[in-house]
Amino acid sequence: MKPLINDWLANDLAHNWHPFMQMKDFETYPPKRIIRSEGIRLFSEDTWYYDTISSWWCNILGHRHPALVQAMVDQLDRLDHIMFGNFTHDGAIELSKKLVEITPNGLNHVYYSDNGSTAIEVAIKMSLNYWHNLNQSKKTAMVSFSGSYHGDTIGAMSVSGVAQFNSVFKPLMTPSICLPNPSNNESAAIQALHDYLKTHADQVAAVVVEPLLMGAGGMQVTTPNFFKEVRQLTQQFNVHLISDEVATGFGRLGSMFASQMANVTPDFLCLSKALTNGQLPLAVTLLTSDIYHAFYADFDDNKTFYHGHTFTANPLGCAVANETLAVLDSIDWTSNVNHLHVKLSAEFHELCDRFRFLSNPRAIGAVAAVDVTSTTHRALFKLSQLAFDYHLTIRPIGQSIYLYLPIVTTSEECDDILDRLNQCLTYAEQMILF
Ligand SMILES: Cc1ncc(COP(=O)(O)O)c(C=O)c1O
Repeated sequence: MKPLINDWLANDLAHNWHPFMQMKDFETYPPKRIIRSEGIRLFSEDTWYYDTISSWWCNILGHRHPALVQAMVDQLDRLDHIMFGNFTHDGAIELSKKLVEITPNGLNHVYYSDNGSTAIEVAIKMSLNYWHNLNQSKKTAMVSFSGSYHGDTIGAMSVSGVAQFNSVFKPLMTPSICLPNPSNNESAAIQALHDYLKTHADQVAAVVVEPLLMGAGGMQVTTPNFFKEVRQLTQQFNVHLISDEVATGFGRLGSMFASQMANVTPDFLCLSKALTNGQLPLAVTLLTSDIYHAFYADFDDNKTFYHGHTFTANPLGCAVANETLAVLDSIDWTSNVNHLHVKLSAEFHELCDRFRFLSNPRAIGAVAAVDVTSTTHRALFKLSQLAFDYHLTIRPIGQSIYLYLPIVTTSEECDDILDRLNQCLTYAEQMILF
């Protein structure tokens, strides 16, 4: 008799706990077993899917880019992982030099870690430690905005304002101040920040922002002006600004970094994900010389920054990151993102005219989103499962669905993706999902 489920599936479900998933759902909707990736496509044994969320917002240049594969192979021929405590290596030296060159002026130093959450943890701890080193130990509070997301470790959660993810863990969190969501009303958020800093700046270490696009909080777009005004207030009231561009850095929004679009130099810039095109885990926290020099002292002054991760500046990760930046230098990704943006923006507006259950179209760079009104039980989850039949990877966030395309997506691929999304939504409507 044929087994009811394949061995791989039985073994997967017996042992693997997939992130952000209700494992029981896999009884009805089994995970897809991906065996190969190429360009913007992921292949299983018998079908394929467009990577329309860029493998959790990482991939910009397509999968298994030949130059990146070669960079990994070459690196393995020379040097694998070593500790970055006493040792250094050419990959990290080259990468830091390049990152300092391409990020806003003034961010002269690089602290490595291995994922977005750790990049935020580094910034938060370094900010607090900076004020301590300056004998301003009362400045410990972190300020953030509702709807922003900065990761799942405890410090990062403490400055995240997405209640759905974090409410259970509140007892573990450090106290922080959550201001109104800027995507609802930017001037109200700015006013709230002004009012808070005016009376409490002597207790605040830093303000943490996810500029231009608040991803996990529902793909909400904010303006460069909002970010600029946050920078002005943080300067005026002498608190740090931490810019979290973990999900958006390296071209996704149409320019290399949100900081450049807003003409802002933050005190800390956190980057990860597309830094290696998502091929290996690597993250950086860039910081100003002012911060660096608050720690630079004789050992006995006790100003050393005691934070680090085993895989800091992993040489393989650095090699892939260096090659990612070289590829970005060699292609005209800006025009392509602009082109994708025009298409996505127009089509997402049209989707809202075509389907009565869609509203609030928005797009920035290679990202577009709409809100979905549903009355059926778990309609968005069912839509995301249906989308696989149309070769699309759709993971709803709250009441929104979105596309988050690699920046090398071609015009034809984008048209095909939009066409499939239309067909999928039409079928979903016929099935009375909405
Ligand atoms: C804006 C932002 N910051 C931080 C993180 C955390 O990154 P990681 O999942 O690599 O810890 C994410 C993850 O999606 C993110 O979107």
